[in-house]
Amino acid sequence: MMAAAGGLAAAPPPAAGVAAIDLRGVSKHYPAAAGTSVHALGPIDLHIPTGSFVAVVGPSGCGKSTLLRLVAGLEMPDGGTMMRYGTPLDAPSHEVGIVFQEHVLFPWNTVLENVLLPADVLALPRAAARERALRLLEMTGLAAFANHRPQMLSGGMRQRAALCRALLADPRLLLLDEPFGALDALTREELSLELSGLWQDLGRTAFLITHDIEEAILLSDRVLVMSPRPGRIRADIAIDLPRPRNADTPRLPRFQALKQEIRDIIFDRRA
Ligand SMILES: Nc1ncnc2c1ncn2[C@@H]1O[C@H](COP(=O)(O)OP(=O)(O)OP(=O)(O)O)[C@@H](O)[C@H]1O
Ligand SMILES: [Mg+2]
Repeated sequence: MMAAAGGLAAAPPPAAGVAAIDLRGVSKHYPAAAGTSVHALGPIDLHIPTGSFVAVVGPSGCGKSTLLRLVAGLEMPDGGTMMRYGTPLDAPSHEVGIVFQEHVLFPWNTVLENVLLPADVLALPRAAARERALRLLEMTGLAAFANHRPQMLSGGMRQRAALCRALLADPRLLLLDEPFGALDALTREELSLELSGLWQDLGRTAFLITHDIEEAILLSDRVLVMSPRPGRIRADIAIDLPRPRNADTPRLPRFQALKQEIRDIIFDRRA
């Protein structure tokens, strides 16, 4: 399990009432063959309150990664408005950490060098970044692997390393695209609970993309259910389960009821 995260949360709290992310009427098309286009997403509204953990579940190809790239400022929508902490969202920001659907660690770098990559990109003070990287690796149980290459790690350990890298610059907003998608169910639940504890300790805002309903419920304050492509928000479910969440949380009757409610929406079995 991860150690306590005391002392790592350094950024000042944002102004009260300002949403981390606010999208209105956002849609996205991609160019396709012979002058046609694919309507990938929207129009959707998305509101992520500061300090909250919001998850999106939806079927494959419904535009979840597209939505995450828009929120990350890596792509621009072709309609609607996007705000991040009260200012127009039109570029990537060092205040945002991202764990992509594939872990994208560089095989020729050590784990520590991989975690330190944002320090080079953002020109962070080297010694402090190194100290923080080692601290994060310790918190995620990877300290002994700092000087190993990624191919010597298990899939779960690689995802932990990717999470450390996303957290290196102490981002106000953490974006996670199926971070545990390639892992077995046991590792997945273990890492989800670790992420939940880490998120609570660091006091940040998180936005998770997943197709795993249990993972979404376990981690989140709200679960948004997306329709098949072009993805729209079909439902916005408040997850009123106590925190901290733990391995017993999925056994709560309320957890099971929420899971059933979300499944019914996805499979359109509402009464
Ligand atoms: N760069 C791109 N160029 C063209 N089409 C794209 C591009 N990225 C995504 N698409 C299309 O947009 C739609 C949504 O893709 P997206 O990757 O957002 O789905 P997703 O919900 O993340 O799927 P998955 O669950 O399989 O990861 C798909 O039809 C996809 O083919
Ligand atoms: Mg995707």
